[in-house]
Amino acid sequence: MRIRFIRLSLLMFCLSMIAAAGLVEAADYEPHVGQDGKDVVWVPTCQELVDKMLDMAKVTPKDYVIDLGSGDGRTVITAAKRGARALGIEYNPDMVALSKRNAAKEGVTDKAQFKEADLFESDFSEATVITMFLLPTINLKLRPKILDLKPGTRIVSNSFTMDDWKADETATVYSLQENCGNYNTAYFWIVPAKVEGTWTLPQGRLRLKQDFQMISGTLESGATVAPVNGKLSGDQINFSAGNVSYTGRVNGSTMQGTAKSGGITTPWSATLVRKVFRVPPEKQGTSALPVRLNVTH
Ligand SMILES: C[S@@+](CC[C@H](N)C(=O)[O-])C[C@H]1O[C@@H](n2cnc3c(N)ncnc32)[C@H](O)[C@@H]1O
Repeated sequence: MRIRFIRLSLLMFCLSMIAAAGLVEAADYEPHVGQDGKDVVWVPTCQELVDKMLDMAKVTPKDYVIDLGSGDGRTVITAAKRGARALGIEYNPDMVALSKRNAAKEGVTDKAQFKEADLFESDFSEATVITMFLLPTINLKLRPKILDLKPGTRIVSNSFTMDDWKADETATVYSLQENCGNYNTAYFWIVPAKVEGTWTLPQGRLRLKQDFQMISGTLESGATVAPVNGKLSGDQINFSAGNVSYTGRVNGSTMQGTAKSGGITTPWSATLVRKVFRVPPEKQGTSALPVRLNVTH
């Protein structure tokens, strides 16, 4: 009986030593720059660029910031320190554990959350701000999902663009405190509302073509056809047609605002009558399938 008790105690002691060693090892985990990641290696964004990225997105306590591939958690923690709710999605479990420890050290565990997950399989539709430091190919792969986010969602990417979706703003930091290396430029976009199609206004028909945030088209009033050029910033629309400047807000299939011409400001509103449905690139066949289909709304 006594021998059995000693054996059991020895076993318990060994198990607790193994567990303690595991904990020490986890707490000592030190990532190294360039270490493998699922789809992209780990290179941290330098703190000055993290700050700049959050400045560009104008992060406030009202925001929900999601960092795709969150590394050691620095962007999430910085956003949380600004009072925002923030989530890091990271594939590497050691990095997730490290991020949680870093958030605890900075006293922001209530605002900074981390999830061990594949960013391609994660839902980030609730974010008001998305930050990322991935790769051009990954940005492009994520682009359709990003363009489907709520109009007005802000996106900031360290170093990598969105191909032909031109950034609304670009900024470069020249840090004296740390070496940002070649990764010192951030690109910023605002997800535009979808307005492509034909709209009716009391004064005529507005036909809009949309290339991301840029719009062009025509405004037909009777026999007059005025060229239209403008830009979207989230759900805010600005365009000129002839010598009239329109500003307004898009709300699904309606938009309204004010029009200015020769110092006179008048209200305007428009209703979508026909939306142009774009076939997503991955669904475009190599056959004679048209790139666009007109669908009556
Ligand atoms: C270049 S680092 C950027 C880290 C952090 N966002 C920053 O700016 O400091 C990219 C991170 O994405 C993670 N990652 C790679 N593929 C991923 C995937 N499919 N899902 C989630 N995280 C991923 C890597 O482990 C790495 O930590």
